Amino acid sequence: MTLITTKYLQELKQRNEKITVLTAYDASFTNHIEQAGVEVILVGDSLGMVVQGHDSTIPVTVDDMVYHTTMVARARQRALLIADLPYHSYLNKEDALENSQRLLDAGADMVKFEGGGKFVATAEHLIHHNIPVCGHLGLLPQSVEELGGYKVQGREQTAADKMIEDAQALVNVGVEMIVLECIPQQLAKRLTQEVDVITIGIGAGVDCSAQVLVLYDLLGITPGKRPKFSKDFLAELGEGKSITCAIEAYVKAVKNLEFPAEEHSFN
Ligand code: KIV
Repeated sequence: MTLITTKYLQELKQRNEKITVLTAYDASFTNHIEQAGVEVILVGDSLGMVVQGHDSTIPVTVDDMVYHTTMVARARQRALLIADLPYHSYLNKEDALENSQRLLDAGADMVKFEGGGKFVATAEHLIHHNIPVCGHLGLLPQSVEELGGYKVQGREQTAADKMIEDAQALVNVGVEMIVLECIPQQLAKRLTQEVDVITIGIGAGVDCSAQVLVLYDLLGITPGKRPKFSKDFLAELGEGKSITCAIEAYVKAVKNLEFPAEEHSFN
C-alpha cells in the first residue's frame, strides 16, 4: 500500500479537503484508525496521561515514545506517522537530533515538538539532517506550569501576532505542518491563511487544514473529564457500534466541516 506523504497532504489542502489526524499508542487501535481511512497518526506524548495515568505529559521519556512508536509502526499501513519528542528531549540541538533519529528508527516519518522562538533553530538543525518536523504552537502541554494551566492561548493581540511570527519562522526553516492547540478560531483562521503550512487544529476551530483528537477522547475512555474541544463519537452513535464506526464518523464529520462545531471552539 502506498504511504501518505506530506506532498499528498499539501494536495488535499490545495483542494480544500480537510485532513484527519488521530493519536495512537499501540497496534490494535492503529488497525482501527487505518481501517477508517485517517490520513495521519500521531504517537502523542498524551500517552503519559491516557495510557500511563500521569496528570501531565512531563514524565514521558524518549524510551516510552520509542516503545509506542514501534508498536504503532508495526500496524501502520498507509497513514503518515508523526511521533512526539517528549519533555526535555530537545533542550539542545544534539539531543534533539539523537532523539529524533531514535523515533525515525522506530518507524516515525516525522517528529513533533512544542514551541517557537528559540526552538526554530532546533527545527532548522533537524531539517538540515533530513528529519521532517511538525511544529506545535498555542497551548503547550509540556509547559503547562509556565502557562499557568490548560488555558486558551493567543487571546491578546501581541500574543496572537507572536504566534503568527513563530509559525512563519518555523515555515521559513522548512517546517511543513504545525499543530495549533487551544487558540481562538479567528487566530487559527488567520494563521492558516497567512502562513503557507498545513495547520492541524485541536481546539482551534474548523478553519485549520487538518483536525486532530486524542483517540481516547473520541471513544469516551479518557480518564477524568473530557476537554471541551473534543467529542465522544462512540457515545453519539449509540449502543452496539464499533470502534471503527466511531472513527469513521469522526473522519466524515471533519471532511464535511461538521467537526469541530462552535461548541468545540474558542472565540
Ligand atoms: O500528545 C498529543 O496527543 C498531542 C495532541 C494533543 C496534538 O500533542
